[in-house]
Amino acid sequence: MTPKILIIGACGQIGSELTMSLRQIHGNKNVVAADIREGKDELMTSGPFEIINAMDYDVVKNCVEKHQITDVYLLAAMLSATGEKFPMKAWDLNMNSLFHVLNLAKDGLIKKLFWPSSIAVFGPTTPRENTPQFTIMEPTTVYGITKQTGERWCEYYHNKYGVDVRSIRYPGLISWKTLPGGGTTDYAVDIFHKAIKDNAYDCFLSENTALPMMYMDDAVRATMSIMEAPSDAIKIRSSYNLGGISFTPDMISKEIKTHLPDFKMSYTPDFRQAIADSWPMSIDDTAAQNDWNWKHNYDLKEMTNVMLKNLSTETV
Ligand code: SER
Repeated sequence: MTPKILIIGACGQIGSELTMSLRQIHGNKNVVAADIREGKDELMTSGPFEIINAMDYDVVKNCVEKHQITDVYLLAAMLSATGEKFPMKAWDLNMNSLFHVLNLAKDGLIKKLFWPSSIAVFGPTTPRENTPQFTIMEPTTVYGITKQTGERWCEYYHNKYGVDVRSIRYPGLISWKTLPGGGTTDYAVDIFHKAIKDNAYDCFLSENTALPMMYMDDAVRATMSIMEAPSDAIKIRSSYNLGGISFTPDMISKEIKTHLPDFKMSYTPDFRQAIADSWPMSIDDTAAQNDWNWKHNYDLKEMTNVMLKNLSTETV
């Protein structure tokens, strides 16, 4: 049976690419894009589009009923850096929106749910290298606290009510189509825009800050794979670690210099440095590999190639 899909937060960094990929596979009319604001023309005109506030239960429920939705991807969230500026808003948005869709699934209005978690669930007491799936988790950001709490609730709704919820702990995501907003890993996207525009970048993290990262094509593929896997293959109902690449600002700067030899990198760490220092440097995603055959494709070199190629063409 063809699923009827609703993507909440469809105009954001992940949503804008995931929506188009899902439309290609399931047909434009079967994938409803929804966001609190308008997005790119392509997204709003290639299939159904709704303006909805993810915090309003009735609005979300009406949208699900109107389009006879079976699968929901809830991507609306406030990320780590913005969350530190508006802690209560981050808590309200990230938690209320999740409860709304979990309850719709519990009540049988939707069949399958995707909810993203993050490397932000980890904290300074977590082993930082090759961070295991099951380990100490004492997040220090409000964003991390919402993601860790959300994971507990996802698992609870699965165990208690049989809700088919699936989740990935995304690393920092790198893409050229839509900008990220308000994250600590955003430097790894900004750097490409500034490299092309100014041939220079002043980084808000220090040069040796290693973080787990992933190119968007891999992240979209991971999201679609976990959602396509048979339910009994999904053994972890909190959230799966997802590895990918691990690099520092210095490493990405050197890679950019192989294309733009005069590129200049400088460093002015701000409050986001403390957030990055509390997160893993690399991730062990063996569980995702074993349970739903996960394998990433893009390394730092390949990602740098595609980012520079696509952004240069865009600005010509
Ligand atoms: N990219 C996110 C952030 O930096 C982490 O999930 O907040």
